[in-house]
Amino acid sequence: MRVQVQKIIVMIELRSDTFTKPSQPMLAAMMAAEVGDDVFGEDPTVNTLEQKLADMFDMYAGIFCPSGTMTNQIAIRVHTQPQDDVICDRYSHVYLYEGGGMMANSGASVSLLEGDRGRITADLVASAIKPDDVHAPISKLVSVENTMNKGGGSYYEFDEFLKIRKVVDDNNLKFHLDGARIFNALVESNDDIKSYGKVFDTISICLSKGLGAPIGSVLLGSKEEIKRARRVRKVFGGGMRQAGYLAAAGIYALDNNVAKLREDHERARTIGKKLENCSFVNNVMPIDTNILIFSVDNVQDILAKLKEKGILGIAFGPNQIRFVTHLDFTDEMLEETVSALREI
Ligand SMILES: Cc1ncc(COP(=O)(O)O)c(C=O)c1O
Repeated sequence: MRVQVQKIIVMIELRSDTFTKPSQPMLAAMMAAEVGDDVFGEDPTVNTLEQKLADMFDMYAGIFCPSGTMTNQIAIRVHTQPQDDVICDRYSHVYLYEGGGMMANSGASVSLLEGDRGRITADLVASAIKPDDVHAPISKLVSVENTMNKGGGSYYEFDEFLKIRKVVDDNNLKFHLDGARIFNALVESNDDIKSYGKVFDTISICLSKGLGAPIGSVLLGSKEEIKRARRVRKVFGGGMRQAGYLAAAGIYALDNNVAKLREDHERARTIGKKLENCSFVNNVMPIDTNILIFSVDNVQDILAKLKEKGILGIAFGPNQIRFVTHLDFTDEMLEETVSALREI
């Protein structure tokens, strides 16, 4: 009898940092969580996570939600009324990748700015403020993203936030941060984390990206805003019951995985250096954190060649490919990736 031996190729996942799987110690922390009904505000582990992040960022309160899309969309709903206008970069996740949620969930319109790799400035914000005129929507909210996904993981100089805050205050607006990858920005910039609470009205933080939790985001804000956010979360269907099992993963991630983000950034830079010398690559965006965006002539052809070598990347526009390094991407995988790139 002939036995057929199949070669199993373990794919190297570079499509996104959302593909990480909970580690054994994270799973153990989840299993050990004390839980209650979070819709009633009685899940102690959820309450701990919300307060932990609020304290870290010097904000009053937090609300745990299933996703970063939900925390962003709740923030927009809390800050705006139908006919209000949201000012953000044209590549913002809240605009590009949340299914038109600003319009569908909040009836808001949007003014899109052309930032530098997704980073907008106070001057750009000022230029987008609408006159008090019946023809115009009502400027109400400025939303920024840090790090900026579509900008290749770029991050802001904190000073620019202070300048934008001044424009926000002068015009009676609100200021939201999509901080899906805020810890990636913080480990590089060394900004004072508590200053964030002084500048922003609301901050959305994802635990399920580079921090390695399987699910979960927290929206931070004032007492009044988070109270309103609880109503909105309910109507969006995001009220979860014994969510402490999930929140425990978030607490574990914050306690154990933040510093590791630096290693992801180093690995991204190593891949970036290699890509710069690859003949099939036309350009590599500067690599500031864990996201690498590079341009090629034929995206599908290169993705297929990468896949043959066991590497998964993602198309990011007609001529661009994105790689994202993460907790489950090891030094061994880095070596394999670099040698595969050499062979293509
Ligand atoms: C910058 C940014 N904001 C928000 C989100 C939304 O997070 P989620 O996938 O949890 O809805 C993502 C997801 O990748 C993101 O990259």
